[in-house]
Amino acid sequence: MKEIIDKQRIAVIGAGGHAKVVASTLMAVGHKVIGFYDDDPQKWGESIFGVPIIGPISDLNRANCDGAIIGLGDNHVRKQVATTMDLNWITVIHPFAWVHPEVPLGAGTIVCAGAIVQPSAIIGAHVILNTKASVDHDCIVGDYVHIAVAHLAGGASVDEGVFLALGSTVLPGLNVGAWAHLGAGAVATKNIPAGCIAVGSPARTIKSAVEAA
Ligand SMILES: CC(C)(COP(=O)(O)OP(=O)(O)OC[C@H]1O[C@@H](n2cnc3c(N)ncnc32)[C@H](O)[C@@H]1OP(=O)(O)O)[C@@H](O)C(=O)NCCC(=O)NCCS
Repeated sequence: MKEIIDKQRIAVIGAGGHAKVVASTLMAVGHKVIGFYDDDPQKWGESIFGVPIIGPISDLNRANCDGAIIGLGDNHVRKQVATTMDLNWITVIHPFAWVHPEVPLGAGTIVCAGAIVQPSAIIGAHVILNTKASVDHDCIVGDYVHIAVAHLAGGASVDEGVFLALGSTVLPGLNVGAWAHLGAGAVATKNIPAGCIAVGSPARTIKSAVEAA
């Protein structure tokens, strides 16, 4: 599962704010970032940290990089890119993050500065554990999840595509269903149904899966 390629030529998909964080994390561990690929033509020819924004995502292939990572914060878009492109997806952990050494990280996952992952957690593929996120012992984090500055207490689980916004918390052992959003500052005191948007403390559903779609 865990694939960390040191000091090789890595491409970043996306050229927005999250892509900057991804690139700086790659650089912090010594990778060479060779270029950004983004579908906004207005960005082509520009650069980030002196690294060029080369062209559309479809231009990227295994021949022009050793590995790639998706720097796009939208969970649906990350899944769409990951499932349609045949690339060597790499995993990166910022040197100022802590991941227990026995925790498996799926391909394409990034652990940003200040994030902490405790023992016996399981982290899926193309996950974003953003700045200062915390995932405690025995948590399960599904593929394409984005955890902002948010906290999962021990034994909690979040299914595929979940977004935990800034300052949100999931209490011990609870589950957040697939593609649900927990709003900024929310505290999940009960399981959160799949696909819905829930806010507040205790978290209440403001949009059902149908309304949120
Ligand atoms: C939860 C969230 C996704 C909902 O977005 P949305 O579906 O567009 O919701 P709306 O803006 O239409 O708001 C709907 C209602 O919920 C309320 N609401 C929205 N977010 C809320 C929150 N986090 N806490 C409490 N109430 C919230 C709004 O005030 C509004 O109430 P009203 O109908 O009484 O006016 C969004 O508000 C949020 O919290 N985003 C977090 C962004 C973030 O953390 N980004 C991290 C990037 S790393």
